[in-house]
Amino acid sequence: HAISFQLKQDSVVEEIFAGRGVIHFRVSRNLLKVLEQLCQERHKFGVKSELFDGLKKGTTVVEFSSPNIAKKFHAGHLRSTIIGNFIANLKESLGNNVIRVNYLGDWGMQFGLLGAGFQLFGCQEKLKKNPLQHLFDVYVQVNKEAENNEVIGQAAREFFRRLEQQEHQALLLWKQFREITVEEYQQVYKRLGVHFDIYSGESFHQQQAQEVVQQLQRRGLLKTTEKGTGVVDLSSAGDMSSYSTVLRSDGTSLYITRDLAAAIDRKERYNFDEMIYVTDKSQGIHFQQLFQILLAMGHSWAERCQHVPFGLVQGMKTRLGEVVFLEDVLDEARARMLRNMSQSKTTKEMVYPEDTAEKVGISALIVQDFKGPLGSDYKFDWDRILQAQGDTGVFLQYTHARLCSYDEVLYQSVQDLQPKHLVNFLMTLRLRLFSGVCTVLANGMKILGITPVEKM
Ligand code: ARG
Repeated sequence: HAISFQLKQDSVVEEIFAGRGVIHFRVSRNLLKVLEQLCQERHKFGVKSELFDGLKKGTTVVEFSSPNIAKKFHAGHLRSTIIGNFIANLKESLGNNVIRVNYLGDWGMQFGLLGAGFQLFGCQEKLKKNPLQHLFDVYVQVNKEAENNEVIGQAAREFFRRLEQQEHQALLLWKQFREITVEEYQQVYKRLGVHFDIYSGESFHQQQAQEVVQQLQRRGLLKTTEKGTGVVDLSSAGDMSSYSTVLRSDGTSLYITRDLAAAIDRKERYNFDEMIYVTDKSQGIHFQQLFQILLAMGHSWAERCQHVPFGLVQGMKTRLGEVVFLEDVLDEARARMLRNMSQSKTTKEMVYPEDTAEKVGISALIVQDFKGPLGSDYKFDWDRILQAQGDTGVFLQYTHARLCSYDEVLYQSVQDLQPKHLVNFLMTLRLRLFSGVCTVLANGMKILGITPVEKM
């Protein structure tokens, strides 16, 4: 009796009462039902179909990551990669047909510089051994050189002109740069658990961009300025108080012209129901103008195009200094996590600690990034991100891992036939289950602006 009064009832253990030499626990049937359902549905659990019946299930194009060849992969590209992947996963889990597109920065004057630079400082051997590093080095060097050497600038313009005119030799070199870069990226995306259905890019829409300009002209939307550039008036008063430049005076296309062509091409190819672009918020006006021009051209589907902007990240560094490649970030996360794991007493023995360290390190990166509103800027801090306690990815993984270790406990018990392993496990499991639910509730309420009470 004394014991049964000390035990607390709750919504799971609905009733506790003492019998002769025994204590009875009545466990809520509802809970069992939920648990049963959870076991049956497993990964689909929680996605209530009735709730989403109203949502149209269609084809969604999600364009994300989109780094620039030979340039730095910065924190913004990392954010785009994980946020875009989240959106794609979410849409997919709700039954949409999702097309994941990586729109590479693989065209423009920078390839004039890179091509000219490679002819001067490039090395095929280094390119094969460490492509991203070598292309980046060449690009940095040629930029520096071009600052005080007129000839380099000329050579770059000349190389880009050859590219634009589809000259075989120039195109061959460009193609090599692109292919080698995509292969490298695919390896690193794999570490992140991210994949793409399509590696498109600005280069794909060179010709189409010119057609877009002609269409704009035919519709009377194109104006030529005194400087000889082609612009589209976007002001409501028609006074050019806001406009977008779509054609350089030398007749070449711009970033937005290629985006116009790319959007139209995707609509024709995939007939998507919606399209989502994920980039940092500095490109907000670009996408606003893009959608506005598409609408003006009569493409009403532009209403179903959306830009998802996110804030800037400051101070993402590794011990070697500035982050240049995506690989650097992943290596750093793994190395730091591995060190933390080796110093922690609770770390279990495992066959591939690097593999675990990498997965946990990445989840830490993701969780800290997703905690706030996507639009907010934040300061990057490895120590805070990789904390084992608190609302971190490490803790999330820890909880999951401990919940997974049930079999392991049975295995331990069968080794020495001691029941204590199982008892200890069940005790902590129960505690974890409730503290976990409590945390989920409290966090969710706090996000809504509600302060959770502990007694009422
Ligand atoms: N490559 C661009 C950058 O690094 C991002 C591309 C975004 N997508 C687009 N359709 N414009 O800034």
